[in-house]
Amino acid sequence: MDGSSTIRRKDLFETYHSVFGALTETNLIYMDYAFKHWCTQNNSIKANILEIGFGTGLNAIATMKHSSLSHVLYHTIEPFPLSTDIIHKLNYGKLLGMEKEFESIHSCPWEKEERISPHFTIRKQQSTAQNTDYHDDFYDIVYFDAFSPDNEPELWTESLFSKIYTSMRTGAVLTTYCCKGTVKRLLKGSGFEIEKLNGPKGKREVLRAIKP
Ligand SMILES: C[S@@+](CC[C@H](N)C(=O)[O-])C[C@H]1O[C@@H](n2cnc3c(N)ncnc32)[C@H](O)[C@@H]1O
Repeated sequence: MDGSSTIRRKDLFETYHSVFGALTETNLIYMDYAFKHWCTQNNSIKANILEIGFGTGLNAIATMKHSSLSHVLYHTIEPFPLSTDIIHKLNYGKLLGMEKEFESIHSCPWEKEERISPHFTIRKQQSTAQNTDYHDDFYDIVYFDAFSPDNEPELWTESLFSKIYTSMRTGAVLTTYCCKGTVKRLLKGSGFEIEKLNGPKGKREVLRAIKP
């Protein structure tokens, strides 16, 4: 436990993050293994990021916190936006010293590009990942943070991974907390090179996929 909050979808019996620490999980899987990894491999000063499953906005605010790039365009997809009551109970803004930015990320309108700071623009799209049309050859980093394949099998398909693969630039990186054999095979079948990495507490391994 690291003191960061998370929430649970009662109908799916699934939490939005690891119960051993939401912030620890995000920092390792999405910040270290995806965002920072891509930044060290590339000299670019700008990055386009795609997130599948905006949820609490933790990955978005953590990216803003860790970024020293001149600009991040953060496109995030979420079919079920959380209520303001729930968002106000989350402590991520406070823990990261970014309360104002966390509030802005949530209060800004959906379906539009909104500049949260000179270095960070967000577009929140209320849709499902499967029904979204993506630009080809556009994203540098993808956070694949949907609910599990057991609960949402329609998201973990070769057809969606292939669509996302096409939307990524050469050398772009995707990470996900799910390391199931079926997910590895689907990612490989879509063209990715994959590697298993040590997971945060409570999770032995996680996946990083690169578009070669
Ligand atoms: C494991 S939670 C993680 C959310 C988020 N990244 C966070 O840090 O809070 C998964 C999220 O995916 C969303 N989701 C469910 N079905 C989806 C779909 N078909 N396409 C995109 N997102 C979906 C859920 O509503 C939920 O917010």
